[in-house]
Amino acid sequence: MKRLEGKNALITGSARGIGRAFAEAYVREGARVAIADINLERASATAQKIGPAAYAVQMDVTQQASIDAAIAICVKEAGGVDILVNNAALFDLQPIVEITRESYDRLFSINVAGTLFTLQAAAKQMIAQGRGGKIINMASQAGRRGEALVGVYCATKAAVISLTQSAGLNLIKHGINVNAIAPGVVDGEHWDGVDALFAKYENRPLGEKKRLVGAEVPFGRMGTADDLTGMAIFLASQESNYIVAQTYNVDGGNWMS
Ligand SMILES: NC(=O)c1ccc[n+]([C@@H]2O[C@H](COP(=O)([O-])OP(=O)(O)OC[C@H]3O[C@@H](n4cnc5c(N)ncnc54)[C@H](O)[C@@H]3O)[C@@H](O)[C@H]2O)c1
Repeated sequence: MKRLEGKNALITGSARGIGRAFAEAYVREGARVAIADINLERASATAQKIGPAAYAVQMDVTQQASIDAAIAICVKEAGGVDILVNNAALFDLQPIVEITRESYDRLFSINVAGTLFTLQAAAKQMIAQGRGGKIINMASQAGRRGEALVGVYCATKAAVISLTQSAGLNLIKHGINVNAIAPGVVDGEHWDGVDALFAKYENRPLGEKKRLVGAEVPFGRMGTADDLTGMAIFLASQESNYIVAQTYNVDGGNWMS
């Protein structure tokens, strides 16, 4: 029995990386999935590769009109939204004295405001549908603690954990479960960018930071996007109905709380 049969999912930032792996996993479990991304070309290519159960939606989570339009497309294409994964996010890195307002505003507008207002729009739709729903926010181990060079991104992910708690408590009366996943270090294009930033600020050769963080994971290596899909399916399924406002670490043992 497929665990998400008949469900309609919207995954932001799913043209590549972790969101794409979630989309593939949800389709395998019987869901229809909106591949929602600011990069429509890449979203369309991803949707085409996944097959007819996936469709591309252009969406910029920093724009309210774009969020509303994406929800409206899901209603038209698939008949509603049962599962939202707030996955789109941006990373940046610099010493505290070099943080710019531009970097701060950009990260908070995607990672925090984007998460909150997409969650809000999906929750309104779910309440109108009257059959509950599942909302999964992508936090990070970075939200569990500060990191010397990662001040802004860490703060955005701490905010995602906090919003998950408040929204989880507020929306459960509608049968909407809001929970989050906190990955550790996950290999992919995103971490290639992170590695390049560490190379610049810590004066390292390209690829060295990646090797180091992978070696430090208790499991023994960096994660893959597929390492996270089990939790993503579980939190989207009926099996997690009694789980409210939680953030789960899926990080090979990097963080314990
Ligand atoms: N990769 C890791 O090591 C790691 C670790 C912890 C948490 N996370 C979190 O997991 C999530 C996915 O990470 P990833 O590694 O797959 O990232 P990624 O950079 O590979 O993918 C992010 C996607 O978001 C899209 N996007 C960017 N801005 C957008 C916007 N304004 N509106 C809509 N889409 C937008 C991008 O086009 C891209 O497809 C993020 O929330 C990230 O913070 C990742």
